[in-house]
Amino acid sequence: SRSIDLAVIPGDGIGQEVVAQGLKVLNAVLPQDVKLETKEYDLGAQRWHRTGDTLPDAELEALKGHDAILLGAIGDPSVPSGVLERGLLLKLRFAFDHFINLRPSKLFPNTATPLAGRPDIDFVVVREGTEGPYTGNGGSLRTGTPAEVATEVSLNTAYGVERVVRDAFERAAARPRKKLTLVHKNNVLVYAGHLWKNTFDKVAAEYPQVSTDYLHVDAATIFFVTQPERFDVIVTDNLFGDILTDLAAAVSGGIGLAASGNINPTGAFPSMFEPVHGSAPDIAGQGKADPTATVLSVALLLRHLGYEAEAARIEDAVSADLAERDGSVARTTDEIGDALAVRVAS
Ligand code: IPM
Ligand code: MN
Repeated sequence: SRSIDLAVIPGDGIGQEVVAQGLKVLNAVLPQDVKLETKEYDLGAQRWHRTGDTLPDAELEALKGHDAILLGAIGDPSVPSGVLERGLLLKLRFAFDHFINLRPSKLFPNTATPLAGRPDIDFVVVREGTEGPYTGNGGSLRTGTPAEVATEVSLNTAYGVERVVRDAFERAAARPRKKLTLVHKNNVLVYAGHLWKNTFDKVAAEYPQVSTDYLHVDAATIFFVTQPERFDVIVTDNLFGDILTDLAAAVSGGIGLAASGNINPTGAFPSMFEPVHGSAPDIAGQGKADPTATVLSVALLLRHLGYEAEAARIEDAVSADLAERDGSVARTTDEIGDALAVRVAS
């Protein structure tokens, strides 16, 4: 019989609340014969305050054994900036070689987007997840003096760029519109820009059925707002992808709906699914957080594990729920989770 062995890292702030709803919907959508096992990991701000640990080796090792990881949110104002981000979230992405950071955007019905009523938005950003300026390559001289100097080096390898570009071409080839846009800034970042563009053009020759385009990242932000329908699949580096996907979330329905997958397509390590949003300490513990982004991340998780029908059921349930949402009636985190669980079960 089939089974899913899931690691759960609720993390900080609203992470706890939204993950509970994600699991509720996961339980509701899975067929009877699929055995779901979950193991919760106590990681995040509270753990750090208590023990000083961010992600000890023993837990990293234990996480390796699961089929997938569901993560809520990491980060808290009581912890110095970067400690949990680098020591936990990025450590997981790097240790498990999550080189595909998959972030789809769809214009959902009835959402408070500046683009409401515009042509359908349906694109996916394939953000590189293990390189760029995220590797911690840099340093500071004369720190804290008026003569301080800081560097933050963007690391780009032929191996790392080619594998994400290939994955993006595969994804584009599998979609109806078959269009792939490379986003970079090769008019200024000439060395990394050359590697990305050269690799993109080389791989493009193997995918004649995919139409290709190149945009500088600044121009891409304009088109995200003025002409989002021009995008199908976008491939870009770690930092550009971080920024673009917050913008994508804002124009396509709000950050409360944006899902993501940190994927290692080789299967060598468990992939990790999380909402794009953060821990939102300002609304934590009040039942105000929209769990939809986490629920949609559960759909990505199911698709990754081969449960396509169940993933689609969740996405349809979210569309239906949003279509019937009445903006004047505020629902709690729990109520939204219940409504989605009922829909996927029927
Ligand atoms: C995200 C977040 C992270 C990132 C932070 C918290 C390290 O913004 O998942 O988009 O920059 O990747
Ligand atoms: Mn981000």
